[in-house]
Amino acid sequence: MPGMDDLVRTDPEVADAIRNETRRQGAQLELIASENFVSEAVLEALGTVFTNKYAEGYPGRRYYGGCEYADVVETLAIERLKQLFGCDHANVQPHSGAQANTAVYMAVCKPGDTILGMNLSHGGHLTHGHPLNFSGRMYNVAAYGVRKEDERIDYDALRELAKQHRPKVIVVGASAYPRTLDFAAVRKAADDTGAVVMADIAHVAGLVAAGLHPSPIPHAEFVTSTTHKTLRGPRGGIVMCQEKWAKELDRLVFPGVQGGPLVHVIAAKAVSFKEALAPEFKAYQRQIVANAAALAATLKDEGWRLVSGGTDNHLMLVDVFTRGITGKVAEKALDRAGITVNKNTIPYDTNAPMVASGIRIGTPALTTRGMKEKEMEQVGRLIARALAGVENEPALAEVKRDVGRLCDRFPLYAARLGKYDRSLARV
Ligand SMILES: Cc1ncc(COP(=O)(O)O)c(C=O)c1O
Repeated sequence: MPGMDDLVRTDPEVADAIRNETRRQGAQLELIASENFVSEAVLEALGTVFTNKYAEGYPGRRYYGGCEYADVVETLAIERLKQLFGCDHANVQPHSGAQANTAVYMAVCKPGDTILGMNLSHGGHLTHGHPLNFSGRMYNVAAYGVRKEDERIDYDALRELAKQHRPKVIVVGASAYPRTLDFAAVRKAADDTGAVVMADIAHVAGLVAAGLHPSPIPHAEFVTSTTHKTLRGPRGGIVMCQEKWAKELDRLVFPGVQGGPLVHVIAAKAVSFKEALAPEFKAYQRQIVANAAALAATLKDEGWRLVSGGTDNHLMLVDVFTRGITGKVAEKALDRAGITVNKNTIPYDTNAPMVASGIRIGTPALTTRGMKEKEMEQVGRLIARALAGVENEPALAEVKRDVGRLCDRFPLYAARLGKYDRSLARV
């Protein structure tokens, strides 16, 4: 086809950036808790002709012709998702986790109604009512958090806040909470006050699917998630709900919040759900949790304080400020050592969010590369070495060399990189 040469000929600059990003992902220790590495099969489904297709509506009820194969992949994604979590109804069209949450709020609330969510600085997400987000602008927000003493969610205070504010929706779920969520306690608070529960399991979805974290399905009218974190699918969102809300939810995702679905992403979601239904996925999730425990133990052994004292899931928050470093400085130093994390506020933080007192560390991505407890101990020691000398460039360079050696033992997307190298060599 004219003008449809391969990427490297059409746009060497973008091809080069893709090659460099592929290299970067493989050459660094990826510890951002919300990231993962999808399979070649998921990547293949993403880069397909389904990106060309408009498919507004739902399988069997579309506003466009030519949707027979779009229907196939969307139906597969829905059925697999229902099987994975045991929910009544599933919508796989949200473009992102934020879109999924928007659809639920709009299904239940009018502008000005009250939602009760977890404070962002205690581990909640922007879309749970932050003043700068649409959720905080559109709705009246009450926020619960963690206790100062043990840094765990205070469900008694949550119940009292629900009684006081009578929210339409109580949101349970977090972006930076290392402990198991008590969905039953939130259900009780909602029942006492007439609220609807939205469980946002973006972070722990893989653990829930594998039975390693309690499921919110019996306790929540709505369960939202991203598909790209522990679930290890393409970047995107999903909503599951009880049958009585199914029609309203679908109307709110489309046409309420979105236009045409991203059918190529839905195809990739279907592939990732198939992978998540396979027995190996349970073993993978078990390893994520075991790896987080091993990494947490090493960091504690190195003298670092972990928020709430440890982790039950795939992530931990390290309070670096207790040893005189800000999260911002720690993130930058680790980056120079080839270790990727993000700065993160900790509960009752005295530093601003862009500075922060903590870093958030998660194990899903390194576990995908095949690393186990032994490697997690090495990773913990490497982190400790880098944090011990945040301004010592030669020491950071030495850590980076050791990071490189460890990464080399667990190759990532090697075939893909080879393809770009070969393509570039042809130019
Ligand atoms: C708990 C939670 N909900 C929602 C989201 C939003 O997802 P997205 O970035 O896909 O909009 C995130 C993303 O970090 C999250 O952690």
